[in-house]
Amino acid sequence: MTQLPKIGLLIGSLAANGLSRKVAEGIRTIGADRLAFEIVEIGDLPLYNPERDTGDVPEWHAFRAAVAPLDGILFVTPEYNRSVPAALKNAIDVGSRPYGQSAWSGKPAAIVSQSPGAIGGFGANHHLRQSLVFLDMPAMQQPEAYIGNSAALFGEDGALAEGSGKAFLDSFVTAFASWVAQHAPPRP
Ligand code: FNR
Repeated sequence: MTQLPKIGLLIGSLAANGLSRKVAEGIRTIGADRLAFEIVEIGDLPLYNPERDTGDVPEWHAFRAAVAPLDGILFVTPEYNRSVPAALKNAIDVGSRPYGQSAWSGKPAAIVSQSPGAIGGFGANHHLRQSLVFLDMPAMQQPEAYIGNSAALFGEDGALAEGSGKAFLDSFVTAFASWVAQHAPPRP
């Protein structure tokens, strides 16, 4: 059997019971027949400091090693003050260094932003896209995913409820699987 592409799920919120994690887990479940999602945790990464980046920060080393073999990255993030939460930006910075050895380089990516509010994290989504350009990560343009009123996606059991939100996320996964097939760098 052909192996499914391995996709790192980076969750922009550190809240264990947050909406972003629930959305990410919902995507992992509904997309398991197309992509092998694994959550790459970012909450224990010390803040990036280039002067400490001499190989002796085990969390940074482990994070880069976890990202390196992945075929693509799906970011699921809330918006903080119209931008990317600091924890996610820190993870991006950690993965991007040492200079010339970025773990992100060439990996296809997609972004799902979510908010309990109406705008669906548009600001975070597009600030993140700015970083992906520099990181040389081909970022899927369509469909865009700004999930507003995200608390309404879930049933009482905490799973994605049947309806247009779940159907949209399912179609998003299909599009991303196709994007990854087109853009994933060859495995070493
Ligand atoms: C927010 N929130 C928020 N929401 C939004 O739509 N736009 C924004 O700019 C912000 N800014 C913001 C800043 C900070 C510091 C916090 C803590 C929150 C609300 C946010 O969308 C809401 O708390 C989400 O539920 C956070 O996602 P998780 O943690 O549930 O995944």
